[in-house]
Amino acid sequence: MTRFPTGQLSKNIRGGASAAVLAALTAACGGSEPGLARGKMLFDTCSPCHGDDGAGKQSLGAPAIAGGSEWYLSAQLLKFRGGARGYHHTDTEGLRMRPMSRALVDDSGDIESIVEYVVSLPIPDPPPTAEGGDVEAGETTYMEACVSCHGRDGRGVDQGVPELNPPSLLHLNDWYIESSLRKYRDGVRGVGDAAGDNMRTYAEGLTDEEIFDVTAYIMTMQRLPRKIPAPPLPPLPPVDVDPAILPEGVTVEMVQEGQDIFNTTVGICFTCHLREGVGGPLAPPLTDDEWLNIDGEYESIIEIITNGVPAPVEYPGQMAPRANRPLTDEQVRAVAAYVFTLSR
Ligand code: HEC
Ligand code: HEC
Ligand code: HEC
Repeated sequence: MTRFPTGQLSKNIRGGASAAVLAALTAACGGSEPGLARGKMLFDTCSPCHGDDGAGKQSLGAPAIAGGSEWYLSAQLLKFRGGARGYHHTDTEGLRMRPMSRALVDDSGDIESIVEYVVSLPIPDPPPTAEGGDVEAGETTYMEACVSCHGRDGRGVDQGVPELNPPSLLHLNDWYIESSLRKYRDGVRGVGDAAGDNMRTYAEGLTDEEIFDVTAYIMTMQRLPRKIPAPPLPPLPPVDVDPAILPEGVTVEMVQEGQDIFNTTVGICFTCHLREGVGGPLAPPLTDDEWLNIDGEYESIIEIITNGVPAPVEYPGQMAPRANRPLTDEQVRAVAAYVFTLSR
């Protein structure tokens, strides 16, 4: 049963308007340094769907993005780009968003710029669009199945593993919360992606009724004066490594640079191997001295990062050459140096 009209798609957006949006984006891409000003300019391509204030447009299924935190917005844009979101043929809204993420040239700082602009916008307060949800039943579901991650205030609890951190729910439209929960439940969103899979585990058992009620409860949390986005993640401490153990030609500075590449969107290694390479459901730990594909020597690590793992021994999915990121040979050597130190 669908109580929120999320699915309608006006014909002009499916065809003409998104082409126009892409053309505007191409035009907007000329020149200008990364940062707030460029982000504002690029936002012209987002506002037709997400609204001038980033508060979302129900008629297009485009949710509020103002109010999202920096790490979450970047992560979602990268997921759309990489095909971890907007991959399912029935995901009308995700498929509408995906080409928009692809038009952003992230390695020149566009994603960072646009996110900087979006987080500068006031946090919206979308009014409820549906009535009749059983708030009490919704609260029971929330306290059983959601509170451990999204927190009592809906702001998101730091899980200690950044890429698994749950987003704040406090700025979201009710129709979007409901449609997202159904997508997670039905495998239309979040399949094969560590954070998405975590979320899906908790959406899987929900009935439409429970989804409707828990959404009504989340909307009551939104009415409370608690609208502060989740705090940014603490930076990693500087690497602490004995130069004597490093292979010839490798410096501590390279290891430090590698730490940054590995644990940020520069190299996105952390999305599968998790922060500091402790391993996750999609990729093995790199912190022990057991290797699946290589002997663990520096050269073998460089080689596997360069070539990827098209046919993993144990883990699902694949590792793309250079993790599908525009990494230079120097960056590959730096991130390999970091991986080399993790198990030593
Ligand atoms: C053609 C319409 C359209 C345009 C243009 C568009 N989006 Fe979207 N966007 C959507 C839709 C629809 C969704 C919801 C997808 C879903 O339901 O899974 C979405 C989702 C998102 C999300 C995920 C929000 C969340 O809470 O997970 C982000 C972030 C986002 N868009 C950012 C942007 C940015 C930045 C731009 C401009 C570069 C942009 N969008 C342009 C339609 C659009
Ligand atoms: C194990 C931790 C965990 C639990 C428990 C959990 N979530 Fe989530 N939730 C997440 C993570 C992580 C994401 C982001 C996933 C992604 O990137 O797609 C998320 C995403 C969401 C989103 C989408 C937000 C957006 O902006 O698109 C909604 C809505 C949501 N959760 C609601 C719930 C509700 C309701 C429950 C309880 C039924 C719940 N979650 C239980 C971790 C969790
Ligand atoms: C999309 C997920 C994903 C990403 C992103 C990713 N990897 Fe991997 N990685 C894997 C998988 C899968 C394997 C192979 C596991 C297997 O054979 O079962 C692997 C294997 C490895 C190995 C060899 C481990 C062994 O025991 O043989 C190294 C080293 C490695 N990755 C480093 C990196 C680095 C550095 C990055 C970032 C530049 C990165 N990975 C990004 C999924 C990923």
